[in-house]
Amino acid sequence: MSDKVSRRQFAKIAGLSAAGIANPVGAVEVNPAPPPRAGTGFPAGFVWGTATSSYQVEGAVNEDGRGASIWDKFVRIPGKIEDGTTGDRANEHYRRYKEDIALIKELGCKAYRFSVAWPRVFPDGDGKPNPKGLDFYNRLVDELLKNGIEPWLTLYHWDLPQSLQDRFGGWRSTETCKIFGDYAAYVAAHLTDRVNNVFTLNESGRFVYFGYGIGIDAPGLTLPQAEINQIRHNSALAHGLAVQAVRAHGRHGTRVGPAENIDACAPAIDTPENVRAAEIALREMNGGYLNVIMTGQYTEAFLKFAGANAPKYTDAELKIISSPVDFLGLNIYAPQNYVVASDQGAGFMPLPIPKSFPHMNSDWLRVGPETIYWVPKLAAKIWKTDAIYISENGTSGDDVVRPDGKIYDTDRIMYLRNYLAQLQRATSEGVPVRGYFLWSLMDNFEWVYGLNKRFGLYHVNFDTQVRTPKLSASFYRNVIATNAAGV
Ligand code: NOJ
Repeated sequence: MSDKVSRRQFAKIAGLSAAGIANPVGAVEVNPAPPPRAGTGFPAGFVWGTATSSYQVEGAVNEDGRGASIWDKFVRIPGKIEDGTTGDRANEHYRRYKEDIALIKELGCKAYRFSVAWPRVFPDGDGKPNPKGLDFYNRLVDELLKNGIEPWLTLYHWDLPQSLQDRFGGWRSTETCKIFGDYAAYVAAHLTDRVNNVFTLNESGRFVYFGYGIGIDAPGLTLPQAEINQIRHNSALAHGLAVQAVRAHGRHGTRVGPAENIDACAPAIDTPENVRAAEIALREMNGGYLNVIMTGQYTEAFLKFAGANAPKYTDAELKIISSPVDFLGLNIYAPQNYVVASDQGAGFMPLPIPKSFPHMNSDWLRVGPETIYWVPKLAAKIWKTDAIYISENGTSGDDVVRPDGKIYDTDRIMYLRNYLAQLQRATSEGVPVRGYFLWSLMDNFEWVYGLNKRFGLYHVNFDTQVRTPKLSASFYRNVIATNAAGV
């Protein structure tokens, strides 16, 4: 207890409500944050943020000249979205953005990752820009800066203009890559006077396979492996063209990098042989995107494995793809591969995952906190980067609103506490992780799951649009205030 506030005053201020818990975020500032427990602190200047994306929160899909995206069409195909909802309205962030920025501020976040909806800025993907679309992002950026929050902009978070899908088959064609480069140039020219950090494409690893391979994301196609590999190659090319566009048209010094759901490999048991195997696995399992971006080569093992399905490419393309980046953005949620050393193949063996492996409220979201230690550590070594940002981490929960109106999401706090402890372990060893963006600021449209899976620090009632801080918002606020893992 701080000596500034007596126990009695504290109890009064904190209200110690019926449930005996101080008000989550929005509580009266009781005292300055205590110093972190020894050995749990993050480096000074560590960037704490939250993240969202355009289609998942904006709504207003027909407003101010926005064109249609592939998601607008996809959500209307019966059976595609589990609860039958769409992003038509979502969080109405398009008009409530000021209210939402106030929520970010309440958390004490110094950074916010959002994405620009390409079809707002270019309704047809290319051609004539729509000034009203860009204006929204001008207002958003200005409001963030006014509140002392740094905007981190993502160029592509899956809402491809439908027109490009119709005319070119979307990412099946390198035409789309070139047009993406032009769009990136336009956004960079207009926003990097105030935006210092730009992510290119979000999660190629997901939107390519889910969208073109198994049809559970837009545009809902199920193409053969050779095409999937080609589309992944195209997405890497689009990334490279965007890097070059930001360099050529952005303010000098603008930083740019990918935001990828890296295939997360970790040693099953921490021995030197297994750690080496995990390192090889991380490179090979990410051979189709991150490794080619970072090295300009497809590995031998990758090409051998792909065989006749390997992508077709030129040296000039590899050069574009590997345009130097300023940072590596990694979305890290669940362990994908626990590996051990092997004298077969490339030198590693991924182990089968038991059915009983613990997971969070989303089945795919296995709990493996050490993933956020190993993956950045090995990635920094393999790709020799000195700046990694965790561009996403977080979890869904059932997030029941209790009779007292509150959400006691101790499961999310458990998850975050364990992941952040492992991230702190990494930074304390000198792994160059410079920041962390928690997914997500607030519940939003979770793609195939619709509004059913809640990832937010703020609960959203999608009928009334009321936002309510969950207990985890208080947890994160304390993490930020103390610059420590909250263990
Ligand atoms: C990754 C995606 O980038 C984001 O859009 C999604 O909502 C979260 N993961 C949670 O699944």
